Amino acid sequence: MRMVIIMGLLVLIGFVIVAIGYSAEQAALRAEATEARAASQIFAKTLKTQLVAAIKTDGPVGAISVCQQIAPAISAQYSTHGLHIGRTALKLRNPANAPDAWERSVLEGFVAAMAKGVDPAALERYAFFSNKNGGKTFRYMKAISVGQSCLACHGRNLAPAVQDSIRQNYPEDQATGFALGDLRGAFTVQKKIAASSR
Ligand code: HEC
Repeated sequence: MRMVIIMGLLVLIGFVIVAIGYSAEQAALRAEATEARAASQIFAKTLKTQLVAAIKTDGPVGAISVCQQIAPAISAQYSTHGLHIGRTALKLRNPANAPDAWERSVLEGFVAAMAKGVDPAALERYAFFSNKNGGKTFRYMKAISVGQSCLACHGRNLAPAVQDSIRQNYPEDQATGFALGDLRGAFTVQKKIAASSR
């Protein structure tokens, strides 16, 4: 009988240790997600403010080159904090923004969720991935939907001059024909976490 009680206690202690480990992992994951979410929001806000300003002063054709340069500049600014942030999509304008396998599956998940009526503003996904060197990579994605200010360059009826400029700069462009509220793509964040810091 005593043996059974001891065995039972050992199993219980085992469960508790696993549960503590799991909740520590979940807390670390949530902390990374909070940082990545904030970075995505700043990226979105900065880009939108500058785009709207550029359209106002230079018109949509002039703003195309601004968009080309601003997005990588904001991305570079954040990369200095050990965080890499970019944008990706299923229908691409710049092939350099192509999704990898995980990003593609997340984007497809966002499309499926939106088809069921989920608000894109609520769509995000994040996870830790183990690296070969024993460290981890945190990855985060947040859905980007099409707003009014996007339609001049991603909508159905582009001004001919905008159409021409896009065709010239992005001969393989697939990123037009969107309607208000469609999924345009996602912010995508990666952060490497060294084995020693965990
Ligand atoms: C002035 C034209 C213009 C406007 C307005 C515009 N975009 Fe873009 N968009 C571009 C260009 C040009 C690129 C390619 C940038 C690059 O080379 O990385 C792009 C790329 C993107 C990408 C990256 C994926 C890809 O296809 O390469 C996303 C996501 C995106 N735009 C979303 C938006 C959203 C959301 C809005 C509205 C808030 C918006 N854009 C407004 C011109 C525009």
